[in-house]
Amino acid sequence: MPNLEKCLTIDDLMEVARRRVPKQFFDYADSGAWTEQTYRANTEDFQKITLRQRVAVNLENRNLATTMLGQPVAMPVAIAPVGSTGMQAPDGEIKAARAAEKAGIIFTLSTMSICSIEDVAQNTSKPFWFQLYVMKDRAFIERLIDRAKAAKCSALVLTMDLQILGQRHKDVRNGLTVPPKFTPKFLFEIARKPRWAFGMLGTSRRTFRNIHGHVSEATNLSSLSKWTRTQFDLTLNWKDIAWIKKRFGGPVVVKGILDPEDARLAIENGADAIIVSNHGGRQLDGAPSTIRVLPEIVDAVGEKTEVFFDGGIRSGQDVIKALALGAKGTFIGRAMNYGLGAGGELGVMRALSIINTEMDTTMALMGERDIRNLGPHNIYSNDLLRRQGY
Ligand SMILES: Cc1cc2nc3c(=O)[nH]c(=O)nc-3n(C[C@H](O)[C@H](O)[C@H](O)COP(=O)(O)O)c2cc1C
Repeated sequence: MPNLEKCLTIDDLMEVARRRVPKQFFDYADSGAWTEQTYRANTEDFQKITLRQRVAVNLENRNLATTMLGQPVAMPVAIAPVGSTGMQAPDGEIKAARAAEKAGIIFTLSTMSICSIEDVAQNTSKPFWFQLYVMKDRAFIERLIDRAKAAKCSALVLTMDLQILGQRHKDVRNGLTVPPKFTPKFLFEIARKPRWAFGMLGTSRRTFRNIHGHVSEATNLSSLSKWTRTQFDLTLNWKDIAWIKKRFGGPVVVKGILDPEDARLAIENGADAIIVSNHGGRQLDGAPSTIRVLPEIVDAVGEKTEVFFDGGIRSGQDVIKALALGAKGTFIGRAMNYGLGAGGELGVMRALSIINTEMDTTMALMGERDIRNLGPHNIYSNDLLRRQGY
């Protein structure tokens, strides 16, 4: 086990994960669509935002706790739905969910997870959120929503930016499959990553367990991957929010909003909150970074609803910037993945602790004591930022 205490940043965890996770799965997370312009912009645009320093403020009794959708959280950082998390580390979703529970934050399970809804529910004690991809097989989707409800998931995250899949060149080049095919290249990879390989041998959770065994056309692994490839529903539209919400009977958060007009439409059609997201730069390459569009979306709907944010968060400072620009909560995808790949449950806890400390220190140095009080006044020279297009 690597000495996680030596990892001082999310980037440090990423480098450990690179050494421990087979290349095709590490690359799966560390990639964006096509030229990766949007993937890079998500992180680079955070660097263009500067924070306003204030001094001589009483900094005792600082608070990072708040609520997301009315649920108390120790900090406004949730774990984003990340497909195939259980390929970064054995039983990855269970480990990440447990780490989230210990840290007092929300965990979101992807439809395309390795561990199933039931696996995560049985191995945790607090409600988590479930992310839904709408597929053509409506009967399956209805059962999936019912399963999330039965597992007491406290919100449904409806992802609307993946009716078709953006091409990620690394995955094509690596011949990525879940579960992996035992090609000579992959065998060579796992020989270099024995800890990962032994861990995988020790678990039965190695395929998409929300789907496998739950649809008649996907009884074995090859029919499962074919079914999954052809199933994403091209007709998904705003009207679908209503029946999904009715079936689930709880709050529905619409994920994948990058435009103020779409934000308005999501709310008009019943979304209880939205997540400003470009899928971590994995879908429309050439789209703007999420931090760049966040202020205009907050202007459009922030009074009416909670606007959450994801994309490019690699530090607590990034979280602070998103909150100052109007987000009520944030989600991390890769930062969680890197922690998990580096050190399993402890690695995710390490990632969350790094972000927590960075948030607290940054907030204090800005002269703020309560995370709920952040706003545009914490950003240095708003006029300048506006001229730069923020
Ligand atoms: C490897 C990977 C898999 C993902 N799988 C899903 C998914 O199954 N469902 C979904 O809604 N979003 C998925 N996302 C997008 C994340 O939920 C989130 O929007 C994104 O990771 C945020 O950017 P960040 O990784 O820079 O934090 C995935 C992202 C990554 C990196």
